[in-house]
Amino acid sequence: MLKVTGIETFYGKIQALKGVSLEVEQGKVVTLLGANGAGKTTTMKTIAGLLKPKTGTVEFLGENITGMRPDQLLRKGIALVPEGRAILSTMTVLENLEMGAYHRNDHDIKKDIEQVMEQFPILKERSEQLGGTLSGGQQQMLAIARALLSKPKLLLLDEPSMGLAPLIVADVFRMIREIKSSGTTVLLVEQNAKQALKVADYGYVMETGKIIINGEAKDLLEDPRIVEAYLGKKSS
Ligand SMILES: Nc1ncnc2c1ncn2[C@@H]1O[C@H](COP(=O)(O)OP(=O)(O)OP(=O)(O)O)[C@@H](O)[C@H]1O
Ligand SMILES: [Mg+2]
Repeated sequence: MLKVTGIETFYGKIQALKGVSLEVEQGKVVTLLGANGAGKTTTMKTIAGLLKPKTGTVEFLGENITGMRPDQLLRKGIALVPEGRAILSTMTVLENLEMGAYHRNDHDIKKDIEQVMEQFPILKERSEQLGGTLSGGQQQMLAIARALLSKPKLLLLDEPSMGLAPLIVADVFRMIREIKSSGTTVLLVEQNAKQALKVADYGYVMETGKIIINGEAKDLLEDPRIVEAYLGKKSS
């Protein structure tokens, strides 16, 4: 569904991506792991059209989408939930959800909002509350739910569990599992490598702008290089 080939992305003269290639198959959850500064967010932003690669291509459903704008890509079915959420804090939960569907012109929006609220009841309970007054975990769920209302074919999640308490992290991963079972394809960037590999089908590991390891998620969970660098102790 998504095929990234040899992308090199720069911030001015600084080269953040040094030839990143990866693929995401339809219906799968693929995780992208790596230390701080490895280039995960840059990869996500390049896929979502927020950054343009200097070289390399991004293909989506067989079409070359390299360099297209984020709003064009949203219409094609690629939605990004950025690092640090970015919900609209002075709008209510309901208004945030409506914003997620702003570019749609079908008649199912109301029904889809209701469905998302059924699926994630906390959003229904808090529908009139301002986004900025939700807890961190609730804001993350809202950010993901808002992205779902764009009816994405491919959902890009950049560190959805960042800064959340363990119980809330579990809620976020439960949400990702539900998204997966509903058939939406997910590319997931995570610091929480163990949880990410447990939900994912396939994984990539980045280091300083390059993919250094890739494989089936179940194999990566056992891979000594990953265990040592990203999984640490057997517990948790
Ligand atoms: N706006 C920017 N201007 C200049 N350099 C940047 C900018 N954003 C990121 N970089 C650099 O690009 C490299 C990759 O950053 P990126 O944010 O993609 O990493 P990351 O893997 O998402 O890290 P983290 O886990 O901390 O989110 C880093 O060296 C970073 O300092
Ligand atoms: Mg990042």
